[in-house]
Amino acid sequence: MKTIFSGIQPSGTLTLGNYLGAMKNFVEMQEEHKCYFCIVDEHAITVPQERLKLRENIKSLAALYLASGINPEQSTLFIQSEVPAHTQLGWMLQCVSYIGELERMTQFKDKSQGGKEGVTSGLLTYPPLMAADILLYKTDVVPVGEDQKQHLELTRNLAQRFNNKYNDIFTVPEVSIPKVGARIMSLQEPTKKMSKSDENQKAYISMLDDEKKILKKVKSAVTDSDGIVKYDKENKPGVSNLLTIHSICSGESIEDLEQKYADKGYGEFKEGVANAVIETLKPIQERYEELIHSEELDDILDRGADQASFEANKMIRKAKKAMGLGRVKKKK
Ligand code: TYM
Repeated sequence: MKTIFSGIQPSGTLTLGNYLGAMKNFVEMQEEHKCYFCIVDEHAITVPQERLKLRENIKSLAALYLASGINPEQSTLFIQSEVPAHTQLGWMLQCVSYIGELERMTQFKDKSQGGKEGVTSGLLTYPPLMAADILLYKTDVVPVGEDQKQHLELTRNLAQRFNNKYNDIFTVPEVSIPKVGARIMSLQEPTKKMSKSDENQKAYISMLDDEKKILKKVKSAVTDSDGIVKYDKENKPGVSNLLTIHSICSGESIEDLEQKYADKGYGEFKEGVANAVIETLKPIQERYEELIHSEELDDILDRGADQASFEANKMIRKAKKAMGLGRVKKKK
């Protein structure tokens, strides 16, 4: 049995990309492993957030985790800011991170394109906080989408650097990226990843979009003019993205789907894609509606924070000792 950790930001309603690239795999992993799933609200405030909206998004994300199949009897589900050890270890890891390596992170570079005056220092120090999330729990494997690969490499470097410099206390985690679905693309610009912060709502399918919206968005997805349903990421990024989505949602292989739609037009293909997405999201949406108003949610998150704190505090004690922080207390 391995220890698994992953996190999702509560910065808007999750997209189909978040579900297919990450959450769906979390559910599969919890059967065999000890899992921690986190709502990383402290990561969300690295960019401006509206207070009430953030609160709503945190609760909604908790309900979505459960509705997608995270079982709180098997896994620990909790909110990052309710376990202070995360920021505490985050600070310690900032003190072993170099500004140069943090500035090289592509997510930082992308978000600071408009100039560094307007971005928070939290955006720069986001990766050591993410490393802290992972390292607190002796995590063996971190399931994420492809966009998090660089952050995971830095996490491994920080763990090794800390272990070499101070004491060998951290497990160096492996990353787990799905073979299919690691990077679900925007429906409008299929060379860009599908993102919940996209200004164009037609570019992404939200996990809570109703049938009509899903059909409309898939129908207006950008494809190409040759009318052939074939997987070719380079030359047919739009069709390839839709094939990937269809394949993961319906469980049919890409080759089978190419055959199924061989002499059909994009209209029929898109209808098939939309139906597969609707069938996948509908049961999740139904469970979500029950959960979002239930008191059970608070109890689950309270228990999750207690369980996570218990484990995380053990690691904080080790890290403080390794770095020489605090006092040596006499045993009474
Ligand atoms: P976030 O909130 O942006 O995304 C959550 C998860 O969804 C994956 N993902 C995608 N996968 C496939 N296709 C897409 N279009 C797509 N968009 C997003 C992401 O790769 C991620 O797995 N930094 C993280 C949150 C985090 C974290 C952690 C993750 C904080 N601490 C510790 C793992 C471990 C983030 O911003 O994910």
